[in-house]
Amino acid sequence: MEQAPLMEMLTWPETMGINEPPAANLIQENGETIEIIAAALSAGKLFPGHAVGITDEDLDAYAAVGASSCHESVTPDQIILKLRRGLKPWLRHGSAAPDLVNVLPAVRAHPDWMRWTCLCSDEVDPADLYQKGGMDFKVRLAVENGIAPIDAIRMATINPAEYYRVDDRLGSVSPGKLADLVVTESLSEFQVRDVVVGGRVVMSQRRLTTSLPQGGGYPDFVRSQTILRNAMNAGDFEFHVPTGANRVRVRVIGVADGTLVSQPLEADLPVVNGNVESDITHDVLKLAVIDRHTGSGRIGLSFTSGFRLQRGAVSTTYCHPFYQLLVLGTNDADMARAANIMREIGGGIVVVDGENVEQWELSLVGIYTAAPFADAQREFLRINQAIRDLGCPLKAPVLALSFVALQTIPTYGLSDKGLFDARVQGFVSPVLSAEC
Ligand SMILES: [Fe+2]
Repeated sequence: MEQAPLMEMLTWPETMGINEPPAANLIQENGETIEIIAAALSAGKLFPGHAVGITDEDLDAYAAVGASSCHESVTPDQIILKLRRGLKPWLRHGSAAPDLVNVLPAVRAHPDWMRWTCLCSDEVDPADLYQKGGMDFKVRLAVENGIAPIDAIRMATINPAEYYRVDDRLGSVSPGKLADLVVTESLSEFQVRDVVVGGRVVMSQRRLTTSLPQGGGYPDFVRSQTILRNAMNAGDFEFHVPTGANRVRVRVIGVADGTLVSQPLEADLPVVNGNVESDITHDVLKLAVIDRHTGSGRIGLSFTSGFRLQRGAVSTTYCHPFYQLLVLGTNDADMARAANIMREIGGGIVVVDGENVEQWELSLVGIYTAAPFADAQREFLRINQAIRDLGCPLKAPVLALSFVALQTIPTYGLSDKGLFDARVQGFVSPVLSAEC
C-alpha cells in the first residue's frame, strides 16, 4: 500500500493506529514507513507490532520506534523477550496459528505479567468459530492450561480495553460503562448461558430470545468483483525462462499446518517449450497472484510446496495480500479456468477438478458472505473438502491459501508484482539458476 492513503487514514478520528508495520521495513530504515509511524504516534495513535521471529537489537529497534504490542509469539521465550522490551504480548489462538497453549508457560510462571497480556485470534475460521467458540473458547483453553479464571477473563476484557485506550467505555462491569454481558454457569467451564447486548437479553438458558438480523441491503460498492483485463488462458500462466534451458532451480514457498511462517525451499523443475511446469510428483506447484482490482493485467508467478494437489486448480479471493486473485494449480489450463470462473462470480473460492467445479461464492468484497453463520461454516467445510479431494492433506487449505502469499510473514510472499522475500523486504527472482 502506498504512503498517501495511509497518511490520510491516520487523520480519521476512528483510526485506532497503524497496525503491524513489518519489522524488516523499520530495521532497514525505510523512510516512508518511518514517516507513517511518526505521524501515527504524534497523532496519539497506537502501533501494534508484528515482530515475527526477531530478537536482540532488531527487537530493541522495533520497540524503540514505538511498537507497543506483538501477537506473533510462538514460544514462551519470545513472550519474555517482548515483555522485557515493553511490548505487550497478545497470546494468539487462531485456526492457522493455534499458539496459546505453547506460549502460556511464560505467563503461568510469572502471574504478575498477566496484567500486560491479552488473548487474541488473528483469524478464526467459520468452522472453528461455530464448533469451538470465539473468545469464550480461548478463555476455556487458558483455564484448562493452568490460568486462574479471573486472569483469563481479564486477558479477554479489561486488558485489551486498556491497550486500545477504550477502558473509559468498555472492558469492565462498572457504572457508566457500555457492557455487553455474558452469564456463565461456571468460570472454569465458561459455558455461556445468557447474553445481554446493549441492555437487552438476546440469549437466555442457551437459547436465542431474538431473531438475528438477516444479511442484505449492502451498498453496491461492496459487491465482489474480479476485474481482469481479458479472459485468461493457459498462456497467461506460463513461466518463461531463457531459451535453451531445460531445467531450472527455483525458490519455493513451503507451507505446513499449524504455522504461518513459510519455509524457504528450493526445487528443480522441468522446462517444456520454454515454460516451467508444476511438478506434481515432487509437490512443487505453480502459484499466481493476479490484480483483480484494476484490470491492469499484472500477474506474479512463483512456486509452492505443501498443498500436494494431484490434479486441477484452485482460485481464491480470500487472499490476505491485498485480497487479490490467487490461483494454485497443477497445470496452466486449469489455473486459467479457475481464474475465469472467479471473474464470473466476482469473489470466493473455486475448485476445478476436471469437468467438476465446486465453488463457494463470497458476495461481499471477495471476502465475506452474507449467508447465515450455520450456512457459512457448512460451506467453508465443503469447499475445504473439495480442495482436499484434489490430494491436499492440510487441515484447512482455504486458510493456508489465504496466508501463502502474504509478504509480511517470513519467508516468502507473492504479489502481482512478483516473489517477495519478507526477510529483506524486497523482490527476488523465483529462478535461482537455469541448466541447458
Ligand atoms: Fe501479524
